[in-house]
Amino acid sequence: MSFDLVLFGGTGDLAWRKLMPALFQAFRHGTLPEGGRIIGVGRDDLSCDQYRALIRSRFDNVELAKRPNDEEFTRFAALLEFVRMDLSKPDDYARLGITLEQRRADTVVMYVATAPNLFTTVCEQLAVAGLNTAKTRVVLEKPLGHDLASNRAINDTVRRVFGERQVFRIDHYLGKPAVQNLFALRFGNALFEPLWRREHIANIQITIAEELGVEKRGAFYETTGALRDMVQNHALQLLCAIGMEPPINSHADAIRDEKLKVLRSLKPWTAEALARDVIRGQYAAGTIAGTPVEAYREEVGVDPQSNTETFVALRTEISNWRWAGVPFYIRTGKRLAGRDARIVVNFRPTPHAIFNSQIDVANRLVINLQPKDGLELHLLAQGQDNRRNSQTLAPVQLDLDFDKRFGIGRVGAYERLLLDVIDGRLNLFVRSDEQEEAWRWVEPIIEHWKNDLQGPRLYAAGTWGPSAASAMIARDGYCWAEET
Ligand code: BG6
Repeated sequence: MSFDLVLFGGTGDLAWRKLMPALFQAFRHGTLPEGGRIIGVGRDDLSCDQYRALIRSRFDNVELAKRPNDEEFTRFAALLEFVRMDLSKPDDYARLGITLEQRRADTVVMYVATAPNLFTTVCEQLAVAGLNTAKTRVVLEKPLGHDLASNRAINDTVRRVFGERQVFRIDHYLGKPAVQNLFALRFGNALFEPLWRREHIANIQITIAEELGVEKRGAFYETTGALRDMVQNHALQLLCAIGMEPPINSHADAIRDEKLKVLRSLKPWTAEALARDVIRGQYAAGTIAGTPVEAYREEVGVDPQSNTETFVALRTEISNWRWAGVPFYIRTGKRLAGRDARIVVNFRPTPHAIFNSQIDVANRLVINLQPKDGLELHLLAQGQDNRRNSQTLAPVQLDLDFDKRFGIGRVGAYERLLLDVIDGRLNLFVRSDEQEEAWRWVEPIIEHWKNDLQGPRLYAAGTWGPSAASAMIARDGYCWAEET
């Protein structure tokens, strides 16, 4: 099956950091279908050879094991072409059409990795140039809008140009191996299903912590913030994966229907809950891995008085029979104490304690997303001190390290998702109604913050965020997993 992958934003940050490395890995692994062509699109006046040379030089920033050697790059470069385009000019789309016409690939993927304000322009212009044929798929990067209205406006335009089955809305967290393992754990094993409910689970914590700050994306981040950048999409998708009902089969819509139900069941916000259960923070100067780092307000492109949040912690519930009353805590932030993404499922303690020690860290399942990908089951076992014949219990941990089990260098999120687009598999992509529902749910938080004069709470870089996030969870009698 031949394909053309047109990369709008072909000289942009995402192309260098994620997409080209992922495409190269697929090429190296032999999973990229043969007969493919990757067409970078950008405003620069580059020949195809110059574009190839530019990509070659960018690979110097990629970790060593994932860099091509000369021979590999020569073969990979044969797939690469470049088309110069001004995305607002209809004539330039006609020129792209001529390039596509030269080979008439079976599948054409339009990957829109541009600034979000260009999504609708690109889709509309593709239609004007007649490039929205039945064999075309369009990939849209997040953020798709900055609130419900703008998200709907983009989806409406896209819908006029492409059928829903041609639209691949990326949330790269769904491509992470740990998320697919979560589906496998929940729906491939009978063991956990009877326990996966309010009667047995005390609370669930979703943490996506980053050590990095906003890097060079200050200007973008200023108008985005952690709620829109991470909660509306990645964190809520994780919440769906953990909270959804078993789908009737593994087809894309069966999965997406169940995720949508979770989003619709999220407890609506009240004024009281907004004030009490949502904490926003912003990093101040601090130390990360022994190195001093500057405050968010000192980053390039950031307003020195900025109130943009770089941290969010919140508490919600899924109001349905399975989950009523179980708190779900979401926490994400930049410049935190570690790069650590995980879901912690805390089971209820035994109903009656016959041993004299009670240890909080037991009865816990941890799904690690990164830096390592695996599962930990925390249990209590008899401790070592048998001399006194005492019932000393000790926490023990069953570790399933997927890197060790399946080998490092497994398929990364973008690699997996790009291959899915080329193959036309929609399972790991977000449907427009899911996305709108997620916006609908976060919008009251955005509105609340507009009127909240207090602004974000400052936290020192290299910590776990403002102490209010710990106080919030402590009100329910719990603590974040790393605090036990
Ligand atoms: C992106 C956000 O979607 O996800 C970034 O825009 C964030 O701000 C990134 O750094 C985190 O992804 P990962 O895969 O490194 O956890």
